[in-house]
Amino acid sequence: MEPSRSEGFSSAILNLFSYQPLISWLLVASVFGVILTLALFVVINGRSRLEHGYSGIPIRRWSTRSIVAHWLGAIPCLFLIVTGLVLGAGKTFFDTQSNSWGTVVNLASDLHEFMAFPFMLGGLAMILMWWQQQRFVRYDLDWFKQFGGYINSGQPKHPDAGFSSGGEKLWFWVFSFCFLVLSVTGLMLFFPAIEPGYSLAPLVIAAHIGSAMVLGAFAVVHIFMAAIMSEGAMGTMINGHCDSNWAKQHHNRWFETIKKP
Ligand code: HEM
Repeated sequence: MEPSRSEGFSSAILNLFSYQPLISWLLVASVFGVILTLALFVVINGRSRLEHGYSGIPIRRWSTRSIVAHWLGAIPCLFLIVTGLVLGAGKTFFDTQSNSWGTVVNLASDLHEFMAFPFMLGGLAMILMWWQQQRFVRYDLDWFKQFGGYINSGQPKHPDAGFSSGGEKLWFWVFSFCFLVLSVTGLMLFFPAIEPGYSLAPLVIAAHIGSAMVLGAFAVVHIFMAAIMSEGAMGTMINGHCDSNWAKQHHNRWFETIKKP
């Protein structure tokens, strides 16, 4: 009997995911390839500076609850990315017969399982607390058309943005989708009893690895934007405040709403 279209599709995916060197290289590219690309970008383009410098006027942006949820999800996520890389790609690059490999894999596996639970708690809290402010609006499209104003050649551009910019909203929804896939498939792998069928295991693993690649790549971009690219952004997730000039430049529509009492 001819395989149905969906059977053909899932067996194509499984074939792809059974080719270990390809998966290893894609995993490495999703983190290190993106880091290299961004490093090159910042060398050529430079950072995004505050056009009028710091005003010294602080504005409340994130509540303590939001900051706690962010770091509860983010710190374990970083551990999951690193340990996931070791587990998913390590065998292509290291001697799997050596004793030290065994120690590294055991440590990575324990840490991966241990960090999954605070990640799920923090991730779920972020999604539940923030989803309403992450709905796309018309001017977000212009934000993408102007690359968020991050290209430093020509006239400075500061496209409209609300509390979250188009790019941040995209990150939020990609994160939410990958988070759900990773959590559901991760729980299936951690508790094999809840997996619907033995034959589904390779598909579950493929979904887990595929969404990890996407989340890994986006997380690197997010960290780069927050910590390196955008001058003045980092403090917002440390003390909950931003400078008024940063708010005006990067989130003008939100700034308009808060400057009125
Ligand atoms: C060292 C790593 C990280 C740094 C420095 C960092 C920094 C930040 C900063 C500064 C903001 C606020 C941006 C703003 O006020 O507009 C933010 C927002 C956010 N972060 Fe992170 N982050 C990191 C890792 C992560 C990770 C791993 C995740 C995913 C688990 C994550 C998820 C988010 C989300 C969903 C937002 C909200 C997006 C928005 O602004 O609307 N972060 N982060």
